[in-house]
Amino acid sequence: MEVTELLWYNDGMDSLNEIVAVAKKAASAAREVQLKALVEGTKISTKAGPQDLVTAADIESERVITQTILERFPDHNILGEEGGDQGRSSSWLWVVDPIDGTTNFSRHIPYFSTSIAVYRDGRPVVGLVASPSVNEVFHAVEGQGSFLNDVAIQASTATDFQKAVMITGFYYERSSNIGLTLDGIAAFYRRNIMGVRRFGSAALDLCYLAAGRAEGYFEIGLNAWDFAAGAFIAQQAGALVTDAWGAPLKLRKSYIVAGVPSLHPIMLEDLSPWKAAQAESGW
Ligand code: IPD
Ligand code: CA
Ligand code: CA
Repeated sequence: MEVTELLWYNDGMDSLNEIVAVAKKAASAAREVQLKALVEGTKISTKAGPQDLVTAADIESERVITQTILERFPDHNILGEEGGDQGRSSSWLWVVDPIDGTTNFSRHIPYFSTSIAVYRDGRPVVGLVASPSVNEVFHAVEGQGSFLNDVAIQASTATDFQKAVMITGFYYERSSNIGLTLDGIAAFYRRNIMGVRRFGSAALDLCYLAAGRAEGYFEIGLNAWDFAAGAFIAQQAGALVTDAWGAPLKLRKSYIVAGVPSLHPIMLEDLSPWKAAQAESGW
């Protein structure tokens, strides 16, 4: 660790608040790119498969986010969905999804976000998810809780399925996994749930759980940049976020089961067929 980094490390809350300020600035720069692209148009290409889209605005958003981070913290490492791991040796890691919900974005559906998480020594300390279309910024700081536009938020206190809304998502790589998700939805409807939604931005879905807009969220095959910030924001707001076995998430491709504390154990039970699939996948 460099000497400057050491000073920073000892600086406690002030440093985390400065990190939040830089994350906000980076998300706001990305928002400008995204809103301009919605007006002027943006080139759309495919990545791993025909449903896996990337736009020129994804790339440009990640560029401005990276530039904003490195202007203030040139020693910090960054893992971005589009740019990969920048490989700097640092105790600080920024995990960035420049546009989470690219399919929505490419069709002018306003449910998309920018997701930025900051890890120190392998543990999340700051998360920020911005929803540019409706001007909502969710963030969380270790030891301070979670916020929506700087006002504290808490996960819902609902205790029964009849009052619960859940959000899910479908993994890009289609396979037998689709049946596991559909079976989960069916199990929740058998419990007479209020409803299940599929909105299209995992980062924002987790923030909706944090803000009490939903009671649960479940999805197979999320990447670290999809969930890093949202999972931290949901946890700091009082929700439980685990893998299919109920274990804490690691910063890698994952099965995600997230919910308010009263319903999370039942979600794990209803999604128990996910356990074998997760074990087999090695995630
Ligand atoms: C996707 C979104 C979507 C989820 C997919 C993700 P992207 O991220 O979060 O809601 O269902 O699994 O890959 O590709 O738009 O950044
Ligand atoms: Ca994503
Ligand atoms: Ca993305």
